Amino acid sequence: MVAKATQCHYTMIKVLVKKGTDLELNGRLCYIDTCVVNGGFDQMQSYVAFSNVVREYRSGGLSVRAADGVSFGLEEGRFSAIVGPSGAGKSTVLNILGGMDTITEGSVTVGGRELTGLSRRQRCAYRRDDVGFVFQFYNLIQNLTALENVELSSHIRKNALNPQCVLADVGLSDRVKNFPAQLSGGEQQRVAIARALAKNPKLLLCDEPTGALDYETGKGILQLLFDTCRSKGVTVVVITHNSAITPMADRIIKIKSGKVESVTDNPNPKPVAEIEW
Ligand SMILES: Nc1ncnc2c1ncn2[C@@H]1O[C@H](COP(=O)(O)OP(=O)(O)OP(=O)(O)O)[C@@H](O)[C@H]1O
Ligand SMILES: [Mg+2]
Repeated sequence: MVAKATQCHYTMIKVLVKKGTDLELNGRLCYIDTCVVNGGFDQMQSYVAFSNVVREYRSGGLSVRAADGVSFGLEEGRFSAIVGPSGAGKSTVLNILGGMDTITEGSVTVGGRELTGLSRRQRCAYRRDDVGFVFQFYNLIQNLTALENVELSSHIRKNALNPQCVLADVGLSDRVKNFPAQLSGGEQQRVAIARALAKNPKLLLCDEPTGALDYETGKGILQLLFDTCRSKGVTVVVITHNSAITPMADRIIKIKSGKVESVTDNPNPKPVAEIEW
């Protein structure tokens, strides 16, 4: 269902529009998913709002709709999980949110700011100042040590955390001088996580952050991400293939074939220690 409104009808919208409704506001589609006081709406849009986002890739004569009308919202300071089968479009969605990919159609707002409206310089500042990104394939710089990889990101941020401390938090205090090629896959993954955490970002976006980790190390990392969310108010988004992880999330977004299959809120997230897989 699509409801239409103009800005001056905002108060009315508060009581008329239901959770999960697409709202056309001044000609722009917004997805409403925040429902708080007295059956009304606390805010027009979530902190992160995807509205009918399409991302089409073309090569040769072929085109792939990696995102095909994706709409969902994420709340500030919450822990969200994106799940779905391989090729569903999860990384595409995260790359768009991280300002690393553009969209073909639709709208993406973060803190009320339209990402598509940003200039190149503003987009760069958004990626540098607001976003910490853990890439699915780590993307470490091969000729820098673990410590230097983390320092690289902390140097560009004013309120960055101490790189040595963050590397210790991910269990790598004895590997700081190793180059990526001298680290195991799981250790490289933890350097990538430390690099994102050290920026002390507003948005921490993690693409399969535990994919290369053993059970205990994976749980330790999930606990660290969860604590970062709760203690610092960081908005954390984790992509995972592991559906056992989803009970720890405040919100779970299921993606299939480039579309959102479901958005589920979890009022009582399970402590990481109680999660088993
Ligand atoms: N740059 C690109 N050019 C062409 N097709 C692409 C590009 N990036 C992604 N795709 C296609 O878009 C679809 C979604 O890819 P995406 O990487 O978002 O999936 P995913 O859900 O992250 O999968 P996985 O769980 O395997 O990482 C896939 O079919 C993929 O082949
Ligand atoms: Mg992926």
